[in-house]
Parts: sequence; structure tokens; C-alpha cells
Amino acid sequence: MTIIGNFVKVLGIALIVAASSQGAESVAGDPQSPPYWAYAMNPPDFKAPADDGSVRHVPESTLGLTLTQVRDSFFSPDWHPNDHPPLPEIVAHGRKPDVLACGFCHRAGGTGGPENASLAGLPAPYIVQQMADFKSGARKTSVPDRAPPKAMIALSKFATAEEIETAAAYFSSLKLKPVIQVIETNTVPKTRIFGWHLADLKNNESEPISARIIEVPQDLQQFVSRDSRSHFIAYVPPGTIEKGRILSSTGGQGRTVQCMICHGPDLKGLGPIPGIAGRSPTYLVRQLYDFQHGVRAGIGSALMKPTVEKLTLDDMIALAAYSSSLQP
Ligand code: HEC
Ligand code: HEC
Repeated sequence: MTIIGNFVKVLGIALIVAASSQGAESVAGDPQSPPYWAYAMNPPDFKAPADDGSVRHVPESTLGLTLTQVRDSFFSPDWHPNDHPPLPEIVAHGRKPDVLACGFCHRAGGTGGPENASLAGLPAPYIVQQMADFKSGARKTSVPDRAPPKAMIALSKFATAEEIETAAAYFSSLKLKPVIQVIETNTVPKTRIFGWHLADLKNNESEPISARIIEVPQDLQQFVSRDSRSHFIAYVPPGTIEKGRILSSTGGQGRTVQCMICHGPDLKGLGPIPGIAGRSPTYLVRQLYDFQHGVRAGIGSALMKPTVEKLTLDDMIALAAYSSSLQP
């Protein structure tokens, strides 16, 4: 079986690396609780704005849709049909009543958002395996009450093998576009949680960044309209990208394992192993945190164990910021 075979082959490398790093002192500062900015929870009194009936538009598209239409979970707004091959039915509409449209959350172009994951360009066998891990319960999340992963896990139980194969082939055929700009800064705009991700309040107020990644859509309304051409800004503390580059490429003398061994020289993925270049940094932190805390424990996750065991939250921020800053 090729996917397992490949994992086992890589596992061989992982064991060698783990053995060679034995004796390295363990690093204090295990992140205690899930960082709120990576697991954004809508406040209990959060109310999505009502549909006033107006027709929405996004740049360079002739389509017009209402807020109710872009919020329909069995519909994937397709603002730029020429950007990608025709959407398979499961991506465009899902299957009522249990399988929401993949493109509703992951977007027609597979770009996703900070509240879920980009799927464009992921290896098809990897996508299939993740669906199986969600379904079996091996892949969970550290804040199980968040609606997006809850819905993801729920629908994984109902999607058929054929639907999964079709969606996997579609997303894996796409090329992930660079849509995230990583900016190092001491101060960030004040944000609020809006639909399971952070949004810039645009009121000219700022605050210290502290040890956080503040990832926001550049144009909130374009993102709310689920346009795959939406761009994001990820603010990170000064020096973070270089710190991540060093940790990623050297392994930090046993603190972690060189990412390129498995994710490929430019971190764009290798065989069945997903790329991590140019992807949402808050998504990446969430995954590192979930691996470390054993809540993401699928078939391939064992390979990530030696990599994450000793990471502090600052290390995760640095690795995510660096990976995100690369060309996908
Ligand atoms: C309600 C929103 C929603 C819908 C609809 C949805 N997903 Fe997801 N999906 C998510 C979220 C949220 C995550 C990330 C979970 C996390 O952060 O740990 C995710 C993650 C994934 C991943 C893992 C990506 C990675 O890099 O490991 C795959 C694969 C995936 N989804 C496939 C699908 C497919 C196929 C469909 C359609 C059959 C689908 N999803 C529909 C919300 C959704
Ligand atoms: C020994 C091989 C190996 C090494 C070294 C490794 N990874 Fe991974 N990584 C994997 C595998 C395999 C997966 C898929 C895990 C799964 O299926 O659950 C993965 C998944 C991930 C994911 C989740 C991606 C997604 O789409 O959800 C992130 C983030 C990640 N790795 C980051 C890193 C970073 C950062 C480093 C270096 C510090 C690193 N990895 C080093 C094998 C490795």
C-alpha cells in the first residue's frame, strides 16, 4: 500500500533523526492552554449581521449574491469559475442533509481561511487519509466546541468513499496561490473575533502584538463573501521569521526535527506528506499544538511526534510564521 509504505519509509528517517538528537536537553515552557487567537471562539453574544437583501459583489467578478446565499452551507460561491476546473457536485453543493459543500468552507479555489484549512495542492492520498482520521475520531481538535471543526468531523462520518475520492482529486489538482502576507511588527490593529477568526476593527486603534499571530482578512467583506481571491495579513513579532527559518532548517540542536526531511526542501510537500509553505499560520499553529497534545493522532501523526514534543508556543509561532512566509 503506497501511502502506508511511504509513511513507513519516512518513519525510518524519523527514528534515525530522533536517535541522533537524544541527550539534547528538554526545553521548558510547554504551552499550557490553547492560544485563543489560533482557536478563535465566537463570543456567546456574537450575532452574524442580518441579510439586508442587498446584492454583494467582489472585485473582477460579474456575479452577484446575497448574504443568505453566501451563508448557505450547501453552496460554494464560485466568483471566478475560470480560476479552476469545474467544481464537482460534492465540492459545489455537498449532499443534503449531512454532507455540507466542501467549497462552502474550503472555498471553490481551495484557499480556505484561518478558521479551517487550505486544501489546494494537498496530495490526494493525504486528503483521503485525513477524512478517515476525522471519521475514526483519531483527528480531533484542542477546542472541540468550535463550530467549524465540529461540522468537519460530523460530515466526515457521512461522506462516501466516492465523494471523498472526487473531492480529493479536485483539491489536489489545484495549485495553492500565495494569499498570505506575513508582516513583522511590534504593534497590531485591534481585532475582534468575527465568524471563528480574527478581524481588523479598522478603528485606528492598536495594541502590542505580544506572543501572538494576528491573522486577518485584508478585506473582511470579500472574505465573508467566500471569494477564493481573498488575501490575508498575518502579523508576527519582530525576528520571528528568521527564528523560524533557523529552527526549521537546523532542528535547533535536538529541539525539533528539520522540517524539510519530510515536507520537502522548500516545504511544499513530499509524496503523501502535505506542504506547509504559504499556508495559514494560525492553522499551522493549531496543528502543531494538536499534535503535541495528542488530539491529532491519525496514522501519519506519529511521524510528527518527535518534531513537536519539545516545542514551546514561541517555537510554534516561529515555525508557522516562517512556513507561511514561503511561496506555496
Ligand atoms: C463547515 C466547514 C467545513 C466543511 C463544509 C468542510 N470542511 Fe474540511 N475542514 C474544516 C475545518 C474547520 C478543518 C480544520 C480543522 C482544524 O483546524 O483542525 C478542515 C480540515 C479538512 C482537511 C484537513 C486539511 C489538512 O491540511 O490536513 C481536509 C482534508 C478536509 N477538511 C476535507 C474536506 C472535504 C473533502 C470536505 C467536503 C466533503 C470538507 N472538508 C468540508 C471545515 C470544513
Ligand atoms: C519525520 C517526518 C516529518 C518531519 C521531520 C516533520 N513533519 Fe510535519 N508532518 C509529517 C507528516 C507525515 C504529516 C501528516 C500528519 C498526519 O497525517 O496527521 C505532517 C503534518 C504536519 C503539519 C500539518 C499539516 C496539515 O496540512 O494539517 C504541520 C503544520 C507540520 N507537519 C509541520 C512541521 C514542521 C514545522 C516541521 C519541522 C519543525 C515538521 N512538520 C517536520 C511528517 C514530518
